[in-house]
Amino acid sequence: MTQTENVPVTKETPFVPIEKIVSLAKRRGFVYPNSEIYGGVSGIYDFGPLGVELRNNIRRYWWWSMVQLNDNIVGIEGAIITHPRVWEASGHVENFVDRLVDCKNCKRRYRIDHLPEENLLQNKCPNCGGELMEPRKFNLMMETYIGVVEGERMKTYLRGEACQNIYLDYDNVLKSSRMQIPFGICQIGKAFRNEVTPGNFLFRQREFEQWDLQFFVHPSEMQKWFDYWKERRFEWYKGIITHKDRLRLRAHGPDELAHYAKQAFDIEYQSILGWQEWEGIHWRQDWDLSRHSQFSGQDLSYTDTVTKERFIPWIVETSGGVDRTFLNLLLDAYEEEPGEDGKEGRTVLHLNPMLAPVKVAVLPLQKNKEELVNTAKDIYNRLKRLMVAQYDDVANIGRRYRRQDEIGTPYCVTVDFDTLQDSTVTVRERDTMSQIRLPISELPAYLLERVTWH
Ligand code: GAP
Repeated sequence: MTQTENVPVTKETPFVPIEKIVSLAKRRGFVYPNSEIYGGVSGIYDFGPLGVELRNNIRRYWWWSMVQLNDNIVGIEGAIITHPRVWEASGHVENFVDRLVDCKNCKRRYRIDHLPEENLLQNKCPNCGGELMEPRKFNLMMETYIGVVEGERMKTYLRGEACQNIYLDYDNVLKSSRMQIPFGICQIGKAFRNEVTPGNFLFRQREFEQWDLQFFVHPSEMQKWFDYWKERRFEWYKGIITHKDRLRLRAHGPDELAHYAKQAFDIEYQSILGWQEWEGIHWRQDWDLSRHSQFSGQDLSYTDTVTKERFIPWIVETSGGVDRTFLNLLLDAYEEEPGEDGKEGRTVLHLNPMLAPVKVAVLPLQKNKEELVNTAKDIYNRLKRLMVAQYDDVANIGRRYRRQDEIGTPYCVTVDFDTLQDSTVTVRERDTMSQIRLPISELPAYLLERVTWH
């Protein structure tokens, strides 16, 4: 069975098969399989020239909206490796496990929580109908060692969730900044999980990147802030996609809750993969600071400066994935438009202009006319100081537009013979393909207003 069977497809805007995204991502330099010349490593990817631009934009936009715009939120960047006790205190050594079953017949392996209910009840393999073995537990933490001398090396872990650094640095942030509860700490960073069933391209990887907000509150205000961040984060995701109806909030059932969460909601996106988690909103309560206080022996309680009340702050967590955002944005933006009146169709990425990897392409109408080329290069050299720009003079203008559409470039600037007379250029917009004429002097302001967040 392929990944895309049995998934409902809406008539108006069919879900994009994941294979099309994988192919475009590799062909146009967004994502490459890691160590490909050695056969690759399942669940690990590298990002190419366009991929890194898109990732940087996604990260920066999150940081801007979460840290820069909120006076009561600050950022940190913690190390990937921490003291091993951190992972005992966090509960990951004990609880961060997947329960798996293997088929006795075809040897396929499944996560119990991913098995269809009927197969679970009948103890039957979804692939061949064979009998399933007894479930086994696998810990997802990736081990590593600090030190070089045998016997003195300390076993520790690559962080299984990036947010632990925030709890470890919480007291330092309090003492070194002027934050008072309620306040938040944000971080973007890599996390590592020995996923037993990585798959669906960037969706479930072994090395991936998370963005977290840990918001510290008085227990009496927990519900208020939980609801507040749930709504804020939902609206944030809505703001960066085209298909708004493919986003929903779903409450976790009691059997789904992570060991640290008393309540949780997932912000989910619907694609060819079905409804899947994009970001988790977790009611972590006092789990983390209490456990780290207990395991480290350090008092991590907070004293209210006015009431002098002493308490362990409760935590609202919003935890999402840079890679899932990257994948969902491509799934959301990809469209194959048929050509009209016998004309060639196009593949277009309707990416939000502020996130698009390349903001503008400058194209001389012909490459063998020196004046056109010089003027176009001059415009390009000025624009590239302000935004990511490309210069392209290879192939006819229609083909060059198509090339830019396929990578989501929101604007193309064409330099033609009129430009040499009146210093105006054609600006073509990606989604509508509409064109306007603009003086060269107005180009920077026109484009900046449309491609930067403010
Ligand atoms: N600190 C809470 C936490 O780690 P999580 O739901 O396990 O919660 C948060 O992860 C987010 O990280 C998910 O919503 C998803 O976007 C991303 N994520 C988790 N596991 C992932 C994986 N194996 N590959 C890619 N992204 C992943």
